[in-house]
Amino acid sequence: MHAARLTLQPAASIGAISPRLYGSFLEHLGRAVYDGIYEPGHPSADADGFRTDVIELVKELGVSAVRYPGGNFVSGFRWEDSVGPRGERPRRLDLAWHTTETNEVGLHEFQAWLDKVGSELMLAVNLGTRGVQEALDLLEYANHRGGTALSEQRIANGRTEPFDVRIWCLGNEMDGPWQLGHSTAEEYGRLAAKTAGAMKAYDPDLELVVCGSSGSSMPTFGEWERVTLTETYEHVEYISCHAYYENTGDLGSFLASGVDMDFFIRSVIATADHVKAVRGSDKSIDISFDEWNIWYISRFENVDRITGVDNWPIAPRLLEDTYSVADAVVFGSLLITMLKHADRVTSASLAQLVNVIAPIMTEPGGAAWRQTTFFPFAATSAHGRGVALDAAVSSGTYRTEKFGEVALVDAVATHDEEAGTYAVFAVNRAVDGPTELVVDLTALGARAGELEVTVRTLSDPDIDAANTREDPERVALTDLPFTRDGDLLRVELPAVSWTEILLTNP
Ligand code: AHR
Repeated sequence: MHAARLTLQPAASIGAISPRLYGSFLEHLGRAVYDGIYEPGHPSADADGFRTDVIELVKELGVSAVRYPGGNFVSGFRWEDSVGPRGERPRRLDLAWHTTETNEVGLHEFQAWLDKVGSELMLAVNLGTRGVQEALDLLEYANHRGGTALSEQRIANGRTEPFDVRIWCLGNEMDGPWQLGHSTAEEYGRLAAKTAGAMKAYDPDLELVVCGSSGSSMPTFGEWERVTLTETYEHVEYISCHAYYENTGDLGSFLASGVDMDFFIRSVIATADHVKAVRGSDKSIDISFDEWNIWYISRFENVDRITGVDNWPIAPRLLEDTYSVADAVVFGSLLITMLKHADRVTSASLAQLVNVIAPIMTEPGGAAWRQTTFFPFAATSAHGRGVALDAAVSSGTYRTEKFGEVALVDAVATHDEEAGTYAVFAVNRAVDGPTELVVDLTALGARAGELEVTVRTLSDPDIDAANTREDPERVALTDLPFTRDGDLLRVELPAVSWTEILLTNP
């Protein structure tokens, strides 16, 4: 058996965990909105046409904020299409996903849905095919109290109180050649600076996210961040990171995907701090990791992609990946990686939420269920609160094709001071057997003995096991036994597993 050790030390604070770390993302893409959150004919639909079974699952998932309405979609989106009387809203081609957008659900409806699930709106503006004026118009429509043409239009459309959106994305993935309006860093940086400056002229307290790279392997990675931040530094609070991982057959490297995410985060922090130094600024830029997940992009490219000049379906099945236990273990490890950078990753959005590369799946007229990835997210969101702690993990290593030597066990701890509770989240990447993890509680003093311990894991002898329409409860968290020996806890982490250890008040 492999061996690993970590220490729970309240003094080893990395930083406060922002509630926005547990955000998600919902795009007008495939069946995320239509037949996802919204299905008026469904037996569980409420008076607004929203599925209440999905609302309950989103609440259980614990999603703090939702980025909307895209994604690639936003780069061709006219926000005006999505407000006003539904019968008068135009149908539009969505060039990003080669579909037809009906605009049946728009800003007002989405905010109504967010109110039901209890999440904050993170709104993206189109800087692909549009610019400063359209962003300002949307800002005035959404946030201005009244007395102007656009704010009165909102009121006439049924919303007296402003939406008061606090956090805004300045476009989406503008470094990507696939993006409508794809730009160089200089072009985008200038446009983002002008847009951000104008938005701040309206409200200096807005929180703005400038687009970073679509992945650490983009050819412009690093330089893109330097240039765009140089242009926008004083106007923005965040730079975005996006990262998707998939198992291409090299399981060892796939299980180590957190190493890439860690490199990505460190590099962006270093670049942001470099620009800070050059500018002599006293402000630091945080990371909004506003797209992260497992995504079988190759399946989309080779099988799902829609083409044909006469073929623009409404809400087709797109990007409906089924997630395995191994996927969920990697997914849980990505949350661990972000928590290890909680001081600088203060906003994040799991991409996405329903049906589209999602933890929640639905069938039209039928059931909604939890994918394997639902469990690590829900558990980390529920218990990974307060302050992130460096757990000083030590373990053996294994050799990977992509990342060289990688630790078998990665982990982070959290401390909710108010509740007086602790959590440890750990991933065991070993494929050949369990790892005995020793958790040293000495630093908790007498408190250690007073806390109740529960250990739950996501693992399965079949790492390809998944929850499906036919078998929606095949995979769930299960209790793990542990032993307590003075101030030492011993837990046997199964091979390829994600585990949470909770220390709570009895
Ligand atoms: O989440 C799916 C897509 O991935 C988003 O629309 C885009 O921003 C990214 O490339």
